[in-house]
Amino acid sequence: MTSDPSPTVEFIDVHTAFGAHTVHRGLNFQLFPGEVTTLLGPSGAGKTIILKLIMGLTVAKHGTVRVMGREMANITDEALRDLRVNLGMLFQGAALFDSYTVFENIAYGLRERGEKDEAKLSRIVEEKLAMVGLPGIQRKYPPQLSGGQKKRVGLARALASSPRVMLYDEPTTGLDPTSTRNIDDLIVKFAKEDGITSLVVTHDIQSARRVSDRWMLLSKGVIAADGQAAKLAVENKLVSDFVSGNWKDDV
Ligand SMILES: Nc1ncnc2c1ncn2[C@@H]1O[C@H](COP(=O)(O)OP(=O)(O)OP(=O)(O)O)[C@@H](O)[C@H]1O
Ligand SMILES: [Mg+2]
Repeated sequence: MTSDPSPTVEFIDVHTAFGAHTVHRGLNFQLFPGEVTTLLGPSGAGKTIILKLIMGLTVAKHGTVRVMGREMANITDEALRDLRVNLGMLFQGAALFDSYTVFENIAYGLRERGEKDEAKLSRIVEEKLAMVGLPGIQRKYPPQLSGGQKKRVGLARALASSPRVMLYDEPTTGLDPTSTRNIDDLIVKFAKEDGITSLVVTHDIQSARRVSDRWMLLSKGVIAADGQAAKLAVENKLVSDFVSGNWKDDV
């Protein structure tokens, strides 16, 4: 952890529901700069919804979601736009536009925010591609890239606005071990070198072990376990059952 003790993300008694289907029944946690937290939990537990709550793409039914000191309930469109500059999300499947070049994919968000300085855009795209280890591929199109390269371009795009908080939704799913390791190393590097608050959703336990300072296990709508990654896997029965594949949904 860095010397900054104030949380960048804070959930206080957060409840969410879609119609009659309750997903979260009182989430409480804080995330801090420079810390990599992995969010584990069975499919459908509501992990992606947590990322969407932080991005302001979904609103809580009850409770408080605070991101960089701002409450997400009733946030104005303008304040949300300002806040999102500080938030980066790597979506599952990278979600690149196939008919745009790598350059345009990375520049997209910055153009949306009104950046018109082409020299500055070029500089940022070049810098972010170098950061993810893919220099010089600006003119390629996503269908020409491997799955691992697409993920890294998605990462470059998420990093384009120099976010303070990075959210990763299953960043290594479908990647070979070397590409997985590349992404894992980048997640750790950005957190440790730049102090980025990092929340990783993954089903890949090996990656979770490699990148995390901390694990949180989401089950039955609450954070059922939260603590130091290495310790939890050994000392917490829910977590050890989950990672060893002995999870029962009715526990
Ligand atoms: N827009 C929506 N409308 C209705 N229900 C939704 C919506 N989004 C998510 N849900 C439901 O909320 C629950 C949690 O979804 P979420 O996508 O967060 O799960 P998850 O933990 O990310 O699962 P996975 O590991 O499979 O990605 C699911 O039961 C899902 O069907
Ligand atoms: Mg999900």
